[in-house]
Amino acid sequence: MTATRSRQPKRVYIETQGCQMNVYDSGQMLEILMETEGYLPADRPEEADLLVLNTCSVREKAFDKALSRLGRWRLLKADNPHLRIAVGGCVASQEGTMLLARAPFVDVVFGPQTLQRLPALLGEREMSGRAQVDVRFPAIEKFDALPAPRRTGPCAFVSIMEGCSKYCSFCIVPYTRGEEANRPFADVLAEVWTLAESGVREITFLGQNVNAYQSDWKGIRRDLADLIHYTAAIDSIQRIRFTTSHPIELGDRLMDAFREEPKLAPHLHLPVQSGSDRILAAMKRGYTALEYRSKVRRLREARADLALTTDLIVGFPGETDRDFEDTFGLVRDLGFDQSFLFLYSPRPGTPAASLPDPVPDPIRQERFNRLKALLDQQALEFSRARVGRRVSVLVERTGEPDPSALSGREGTNHWVHFAGPPDLLGMMVEVEVTQGLPNSMKGRRTGIESLRPVSHDRTQRPSL
Ligand code: SAM
Ligand code: F3S
Repeated sequence: MTATRSRQPKRVYIETQGCQMNVYDSGQMLEILMETEGYLPADRPEEADLLVLNTCSVREKAFDKALSRLGRWRLLKADNPHLRIAVGGCVASQEGTMLLARAPFVDVVFGPQTLQRLPALLGEREMSGRAQVDVRFPAIEKFDALPAPRRTGPCAFVSIMEGCSKYCSFCIVPYTRGEEANRPFADVLAEVWTLAESGVREITFLGQNVNAYQSDWKGIRRDLADLIHYTAAIDSIQRIRFTTSHPIELGDRLMDAFREEPKLAPHLHLPVQSGSDRILAAMKRGYTALEYRSKVRRLREARADLALTTDLIVGFPGETDRDFEDTFGLVRDLGFDQSFLFLYSPRPGTPAASLPDPVPDPIRQERFNRLKALLDQQALEFSRARVGRRVSVLVERTGEPDPSALSGREGTNHWVHFAGPPDLLGMMVEVEVTQGLPNSMKGRRTGIESLRPVSHDRTQRPSL
């Protein structure tokens, strides 16, 4: 029995809490464990030899949420003492060894910038018999150590930078993920090329502040606009996205890319947080509402069909009715599409956490509900306004159990569902929108699709 078990590949179950960066990091953890240790993914925690919890601390009660999941996993470990438990992400980064005091059955604690060390940390845990903790910020080491990407579908994320140096007064990210660190331009392009050659058609550049990206290549300073242009030159790449951006770094070159580059999707996620100058200053965002509005106006001049989404916080300390009305007015005037709305929650260790004048619960909840209703209504109007239009959809999914129920996103990032043969998976298909729903659209194929095989790519990989 023991001999049979030891020949079986080990299985890992990874649970991800939080943002897209964490989803990306979890993918990297799986890759590195598969590549270096031969792990296979487990569908359920009960089937795993290793459980990994990738935590997020942006929202309230993050530590409690992590502890509650770990509490359940502790029971599995009681049944199987060989089970190993690792905790990564921002809660792990923040708590470090303190996490072991609350959850002594955890074997490894690692941060967003040390995930490449996970196999080594697990090895050290076995050798020493003691829990291992590494939550340092060697961001560039992380980029160098990560395995080459594997193709999982027609769309891929490419991480171009780590961390954030903006230090908004409410946000924990700079403390848990460290300062901004850029990945070398040539390395990013090499990864994009590898993905393109394996059939990927849509690239999303990923980072906390992707438009702050800078890297020297062949003696010249390169930025996100350069990455977009070089990627667009690859014949088989049909669409490019990037997320997330900061308004203060939205410069002319990036705006021009929206005008000049048809492969750049007509969607921008540009967190505004508030429409009140007083609150924006207290948040240390570095721009006024007017400056934000002016950037949006210029963006829409560059790309009239641009879908604009944002992040908003209500109930920041000291937020008055007037401040909230400024936010409400800005949301209405700029017509944001599907956006993220957060109730302010003090993050221990951030400057805003010690600000006086909290907004009473019933008031902030009422503001939240009003703004949410406005955002939902605007997203529905946006969706309905697309009825009758012909949009390009990259087919990402076939239905279950009906494989002819196809789904994909159009340029504005809205999901579109329509009927078609499953072999359209991975193709860019033209669809006429027939119905606009709150979170998606329905449509009908027009029969125009891009069927050019990827191997017919006419472009050549440049010398990197
Ligand atoms: N540039 C980042 C991104 O990728 O969106 C922003 C980082 S944060 C993970 C995402 C959003 O969480 C922020 O834009 C903000 O609206 C929200 N957020 C961060 N800290 C918060 C807090 N203390 N309370 C409420 N919302 C918060
Ligand atoms: Fe957070 Fe502000 Fe950076 S929201 S991730 S500190 S831009």
